[in-house]
Amino acid sequence: MDLYEYQARDLFEKYEVPVLAGIIADTPEEAKAAAEKLGGVVVVKAQVKTGGRGKAGGVKVAKNPDEAFEAAQAILGLDIKGHVVKRVMVAAGARIAKEFYFSVLLDRANRSYLSLSSVEGGMEIEELAVERPEALARIEVDPLEGISPEKALEIAKAAKFDDELAPKVADVFVKLFNVYKGEDATLVEVNPLIQSEDGDIIALDGKVSLDENAGFRHPEHEELEDKDAADPLEAKAKQHDLNYVKLDGQVGIIGNGAGLVMSTLDVVAYAGESHGGVKPANFLDIGGGASATVMAAGLDVILGDAQVKSVFVNVFGGITSCVAVAEGIVKALEILGDAATKPLVVRLDGNQVEEGRQILAAANHPLVTLAAGMDEGADKAAELANA
Ligand SMILES: Nc1ncnc2c1ncn2[C@@H]1O[C@H](COP(=O)(O)OP(=O)(O)O)[C@@H](O)[C@H]1O
Ligand SMILES: [Mg+2]
Repeated sequence: MDLYEYQARDLFEKYEVPVLAGIIADTPEEAKAAAEKLGGVVVVKAQVKTGGRGKAGGVKVAKNPDEAFEAAQAILGLDIKGHVVKRVMVAAGARIAKEFYFSVLLDRANRSYLSLSSVEGGMEIEELAVERPEALARIEVDPLEGISPEKALEIAKAAKFDDELAPKVADVFVKLFNVYKGEDATLVEVNPLIQSEDGDIIALDGKVSLDENAGFRHPEHEELEDKDAADPLEAKAKQHDLNYVKLDGQVGIIGNGAGLVMSTLDVVAYAGESHGGVKPANFLDIGGGASATVMAAGLDVILGDAQVKSVFVNVFGGITSCVAVAEGIVKALEILGDAATKPLVVRLDGNQVEEGRQILAAANHPLVTLAAGMDEGADKAAELANA
């Protein structure tokens, strides 16, 4: 579970990570009152579970309560990468001298933890990692030993903090690791960690992902989950017991079996590189059954995503025959009627594939294109999404 910045801020405070005062507000009036309470210059910040808020106009400086009102008015309702802003945090304004980067995360591939840090923060870390990889120190953290003061200093030195700064930031790294460990997180990221003009080290932004597998140890985490702000499409999918995760791209994906869906995402992302950079719009595993109702529910969820321009249905008939899947698709399109508006590329293979393809060919639905293979289907779907 990913947390909002204000929730991360609260957790940081609990572990004595230096943060600035912050008050959440759901209306411009509340933002104004918050700014009055904080006094001085404040920063109004969109609370959405995605990065790059600053660039998207979701972080605004306000010199007085009236400006905070206006800033909140501009930010509330803003769509940032598909996330609509319903709440802002009014934070005390920092006078930034330098911006740094620090994170600690679960490194699944190495069955370990990894800390990333850089004396060059502020810019997006993905960019930094690509453009100046040498500026980003990657230090493995032994899960049993964690980030001790010595380890923190090693990280700070590797990230090229000077002798004066290193012990100061190392102290904060230790505290951030305490958050990571104490809350059973899989990610704690601070970008930017700053040095203020007064010389204080402060976590100005925070991103925390909690490990839901450890939820039984943290009954208090349940309160952090905000049910109404959950993606409406994800909520709808949950109602139908569909395994759905919304992503940022344009090609809707339906497949059966998590492994097949995962590889479909890769193949579509790859095909998208030759079609204007389109990407998968979601993960959706309809499981083994693939009946008409499940298919209709899946399509309904995916077509409800305004970002989706085309859909790629990639089904391998195992126990479920391709006949059932093809009939499912035909019936699903009947059920959806005018709600089905976007082109569908269907790739079927496996059990009774010929019969299944014949059913789709005979139905001759204007939105449906049949693909012989997975690569071909991905390419066609990406092309249609880019049309
Ligand atoms: N409380 C604050 N005071 C002053 N500047 C801030 C404050 N919070 C954020 N900023 C500035 O805005 C930038 C973007 O804010 P941040 O919280 O990192 O959002 P995001 O990473 O989503 O863009 C920061 O790099 C920093 O320069
Ligand atoms: Mg940031």
